Amino acid sequence: MTYARITGTGGYLPDKVVTNKDLEAALDTTEEWIESRTGIRERRIAADDEFTVDLAERAALQAIDAAGIERRAIDLIVLATTTADQVFPATACLLQQRLGNGGYPAFDVQAVCAGFLFALGVADKFVRTGASQCALVVGAETFSRIIDWSDRRTCVLFGDGAGAVVLQAGDAPGVMSTHLRSDGQYKDLLQVPVGVSRNFSKVRDGGAFTTMQGGEVFRWAVTAMSDIIDETVAANDLSKDDIDWLIPHQANIRIINAVGARAKIPRDKVVVTVGEHGNTSAASVPLALDQAVRDGRVRPGHRVLLEGFGGGFTWGSALITM
Ligand code: UT7
Repeated sequence: MTYARITGTGGYLPDKVVTNKDLEAALDTTEEWIESRTGIRERRIAADDEFTVDLAERAALQAIDAAGIERRAIDLIVLATTTADQVFPATACLLQQRLGNGGYPAFDVQAVCAGFLFALGVADKFVRTGASQCALVVGAETFSRIIDWSDRRTCVLFGDGAGAVVLQAGDAPGVMSTHLRSDGQYKDLLQVPVGVSRNFSKVRDGGAFTTMQGGEVFRWAVTAMSDIIDETVAANDLSKDDIDWLIPHQANIRIINAVGARAKIPRDKVVVTVGEHGNTSAASVPLALDQAVRDGRVRPGHRVLLEGFGGGFTWGSALITM
């Protein structure tokens, strides 16, 4: 049986740090409110001349380096983003051009904050079926570009960044299972209500902003992310004690704590980066994974449960043996 194994991880955060104090100076908010309600202390924001592909490239090169492979070994790129550089080509193709070789499939997936799980789920199937031997899976966002920086209900929450993994075919697991879900009936609760086909003038005029009914999203995120832990563990005939690390989407420390408590996963097994990263949407899970690999918490052989939740709604998980 062929499995897809993560052989390298990478991450990149832009240089510019925006602290809660910076936001307090510009908005009707306080450092105390932001940290106590979300756990976020600071976030990174891309420079004006820095684009999603730039972030993706930095994370991808780190993952390629960590995997010890040549760029030309890559035969698939799946890139999750909500903040593509261009309407087309896909940001995955822009990244492919940067990496300097082509001819294999490179495409974007759009599942907002669950995007990395969707990208990983798709790439895993390519590798398991033999269609790919060496996939690059990326979550990259310049989410700050679709935020209304005068709206205190949303702008304090988000940041920019990118994370990446190399997935290679092998006999040993690997990605053990992926679980992907969507429910479009909740489309209005978390959205950017304009796009190419609808109200494009607002995009042109700088009015393409994220809107969210925070309380509703919070409740849904907790339920969906704790239920999918049960589903993932059961699908693999494991118990929660078999999970070495939970790496949830990093949107709000209160959501992360509530999910951990409902799933009965101890806090010291949960990787948390939301304090320094904020919510980087599709980048949040691979960035947190990369951080935990680099600081030595996640080690070869560990069982890691990744999960995400985002607009749509979309949500998903992956159980991985590192
Ligand atoms: O990545 C996709 C998933 N996204 C999420 O998971 C986000 C989910 N939602 C949340 O994290 C939380 O709902 C928020 C952090 C967005 C809001 O926290 P909350 O505890 O649900 O606060 P709230 O929306 O109930 O607002 C409480 C009060 C309101 O004032 P009133 O109406 O009670 O007078 C808000 O206007 O807090 C006010 N408020 C703020 N005050 C100071 C909202 N934002 C701020 C702010 N600073 N930045």
